[in-house]
Amino acid sequence: MNLVLVTGAAGFIGSHVAELLLSEGWQVRAVDALSETYDPAVKLRNIAGLRQNPSFTMVFDDLTTARLEPLVEGVDAVVHLAAEPGVSKSWGEAFPTYVERNILATQRLLEAAARVHAPRVVYASSSSVYGPTREPMHESSLLAPLSPYGVSKLAGECLVGAYAQERGVPTVSLRFFSVYGPRQRPDMAIHRFTEALLDGREVSVFGDQVQLRDFTYVGDVARAVVAAVTAPIPSGTILNIARGTPVPVPEVLRLLEVEVRGEASVARLPHRPGDTRQTHGDNRAAEAALGWRPTTDLPFGVKHQVAWHRSLRERPQDEGVDPDVVARLPSSLQGGGIR
Ligand SMILES: NC(=O)c1ccc[n+]([C@@H]2O[C@H](COP(=O)([O-])OP(=O)(O)OC[C@H]3O[C@@H](n4cnc5c(N)ncnc54)[C@H](O)[C@@H]3O)[C@@H](O)[C@H]2O)c1
Repeated sequence: MNLVLVTGAAGFIGSHVAELLLSEGWQVRAVDALSETYDPAVKLRNIAGLRQNPSFTMVFDDLTTARLEPLVEGVDAVVHLAAEPGVSKSWGEAFPTYVERNILATQRLLEAAARVHAPRVVYASSSSVYGPTREPMHESSLLAPLSPYGVSKLAGECLVGAYAQERGVPTVSLRFFSVYGPRQRPDMAIHRFTEALLDGREVSVFGDQVQLRDFTYVGDVARAVVAAVTAPIPSGTILNIARGTPVPVPEVLRLLEVEVRGEASVARLPHRPGDTRQTHGDNRAAEAALGWRPTTDLPFGVKHQVAWHRSLRERPQDEGVDPDVVARLPSSLQGGGIR
């Protein structure tokens, strides 16, 4: 049947992955809890187009409580993107949410995948699992997360490894590096910078040292995920999905200024615990395993993301969002309604 279950499909990366799978002829069963991490209406807008496609089925439910076997039954692969994202807000009282959504949800999904003998599980891991280093991060580099978020993603990755080794679940873990592009989450740097520039507001930059990030375009990331669904690679494989070119954050700001045709006034704020100085992913293993190479350079990707921000401002706020669905959210989440 060529069916893939995509968890977190209403999110930033998940909506792109679902689109690419559909365009390649897959059927997509999608699940998302529309968590309140950011506006659920934004997530509904992300999937508005997808829901017109007869090969796309949306299930609004929560992986921490739902019965998962019916969701996993009959699929050719599970792409597990659902998670609580965000490094800087993962401290303190927020942590139980990270434990539930990133660790418990992953364990429940793996258990269901083991029971129904799912042919493949692709897990979205993160560069946040690595310890701080000025060297390129290899898959074998030291794992020493700087944030509770990173700890939770590493715990998920370890569970994936355990289910691969001991319960026979065929898995691939992909460590994403600073993904950007249209629909980027509102808490992420390029999104925040662009909105501030378009509004003529101050741009907040954290820390007194220049940070470097290996910004990777969402279209490239989606291609890697889709390649991982069928690639003939050993179970338990772990791969960096990175452009492989770290860029100083001020340089990104300059690119955005050119695109927006505005000048940023920068407010320097203190270092946020958990923010690493530099990310730089070595992507050679992904190229060897998946035949994958990132093809989108930063100026081109930034142009696309800015165009997306502008397009949102040019159309009515709620266009593409079904107000009935928003109104019915709490009950549909409880019931895990399929539509
Ligand atoms: N964006 C990045 O730069 C980046 C980098 C590294 C790793 N990742 C990982 O990639 C994945 C996707 O990230 P994103 O940026 O698209 O985030 P996102 O918040 O936009 O998407 C995650 C989606 O998961 C859903 N979700 C959360 N908990 C759920 C649960 N218990 N049950 C069902 N749905 C649930 C949310 O409602 C959301 O729509 C995450 O696993 C994240 O940790 C992202």
